Amino acid sequence: KQAIIMDVDTGIDDSLALLYLLASPEADILAITCTSGNVPAKQVATNNLAWLELCGAPEIEVALGSEVPIVAPLMTTEETHGPQGIGYAELPAPTRTLSTRHATEVWVELARSRPGEIIGLVTGPLTNLALALRIEPELPRLLKRLVVMGGAFDHPGNTLPTTEWNIAVDPESAKMVFDAFSGLPADRRPLICALDVTEQIEMKPEHIAEIGRRAGSVPDEIIAEADVDGTLSRASNGVVRYLTDAVRFYMEFHIAHNQGFLAHMHDPFAAAIALHPELGTTRPATVDVELAGTLTRGQTVADWAGLWGREPNADIVVAVDPPKFFDHLVERVGDF
Ligand code: BDR
Ligand code: CA
Repeated sequence: KQAIIMDVDTGIDDSLALLYLLASPEADILAITCTSGNVPAKQVATNNLAWLELCGAPEIEVALGSEVPIVAPLMTTEETHGPQGIGYAELPAPTRTLSTRHATEVWVELARSRPGEIIGLVTGPLTNLALALRIEPELPRLLKRLVVMGGAFDHPGNTLPTTEWNIAVDPESAKMVFDAFSGLPADRRPLICALDVTEQIEMKPEHIAEIGRRAGSVPDEIIAEADVDGTLSRASNGVVRYLTDAVRFYMEFHIAHNQGFLAHMHDPFAAAIALHPELGTTRPATVDVELAGTLTRGQTVADWAGLWGREPNADIVVAVDPPKFFDHLVERVGDF
């Protein structure tokens, strides 16, 4: 099994990424660490504890991390993910408590205990990882690989014209991480899933309907909107009910921003390619983060041609096959 540590700002699509990993027999989630991003870190932690319980995996460690970026003032985006970060979904209050370890301790201690074995997956701002690097500068060499959802290269941003959300929240941390993960062998370079590809990963109502059908629980609103056949009953399966209520909010946000009746599955894609590199094509580049720009702060810049004279420090996903990804996601989650 592939050992994974996840750092998240759950977050609708973060919760789907977690569900995908739970539903993947080849994945072994060692711990989930929480950062502020879509919503404040404490809310992220509550969401993760409650979601793991609903998904039947209450034993997984959940640790709180930094509640603020290392330099920037905190910004959150309830308009995108709902007041609690899970759209219209409601989860019962979790019955267990957080880990006694801080997120940074979790990363450092796990990585030291299993050198070269663990994939680190970050689907939120990079604050916790940057702080963990202060404790253990060897972290890049202790992990098997780092996989990040973040950035926008030859593609518009979603927070500023050229800046993606996860980097926008904590650009200083992002820069520290890209700098620290330089100089690794080619097969250990961080794998970066930026908006260039994740905005091609469009979840449609029929994907939710198909998940519901496979799970034996067809959510009626989604079915009605998608105009597909199915049993018109409210989702009886709690996980499908959550998905319907969370993703409906996310789709309404995308509709409001003229992106259509869909929701971008940024974080589930990053989780999937972490386990299955064949889900995308990559190109090496040297990545750096703009910190000084008055218009471009947080922009990720990729040097594809070695113009800076620095070795590549990232493998950027440049091409994906969305139908192949959704077949995989729907099968995994629907059969969970
Ligand atoms: C990223 O920002 C968050 O809102 C999503 O969860 C995703 O990780 C996309 O820019
Ligand atoms: Ca996220």
